[in-house]
Amino acid sequence: MMDSFELNKILGAILGTLLVLLSVNIVAGGIFSVPKPAKRGYDIAVTETPAAGPAAAPEPEVPIAQLLANADVKKGETVAKKCMACHDLHKGGPNKVGPDLYGVVGRERGSHEGFSYSAAMKGKPGKWTFEDLNHFLTSPRSFIPGTAMAFAGISKASERADLLAYLNTLSDNPQPLPKAEAGGQPAPKQ
Ligand code: HEC
Repeated sequence: MMDSFELNKILGAILGTLLVLLSVNIVAGGIFSVPKPAKRGYDIAVTETPAAGPAAAPEPEVPIAQLLANADVKKGETVAKKCMACHDLHKGGPNKVGPDLYGVVGRERGSHEGFSYSAAMKGKPGKWTFEDLNHFLTSPRSFIPGTAMAFAGISKASERADLLAYLNTLSDNPQPLPKAEAGGQPAPKQ
């Protein structure tokens, strides 16, 4: 039989061990603090379906490459009428309110001979890629704040794609269309 003295010693040892473990735990917790996740719970992938009713979801952003793959040059020609109040589209055409746009896809920004560009346009060097033209034509003043192009923009993405596909045909060397994602699906937005 164990006497109570022995039992006390055993209990004491156990208690002591627990105490040590506890304090190690506290200290370790201080050193190796586990960062709390920024968001609680899981991200649930929701396939976007346009909400029925008056509050329609905003148009999801489809990559320009994919839009161009489905673009309609003929329709683009019609859209381009919006531009012709200010732009000539012919090779060697005159500068009007805006510069001649023949060969503008792939052209250096603000580079057309004889046209006096705004400081804003001159302050944003680079080539007119499909990507940039897509942004510019969505809202000229958002892409180039202070631009002299007094045009609100074309809000419909497919209309911009049609227009860009058409503009690209007005060139001595049309630019290759950007490659759409394999499978033709838009890349999931992160
Ligand atoms: C109200 C007149 C007006 C309309 C309409 C207009 N533009 Fe312009 N556009 C301008 C002016 C002015 C500039 C020069 C902008 C500057 O210097 O900031 C310009 C510049 C541009 C440029 C830059 C050209 C370069 O050489 O860098 C592009 C591209 C362009 N316009 C495309 C279009 C397209 C496409 C449309 C039709 C959807 C259109 N614009 C409609 C007036 C107009």
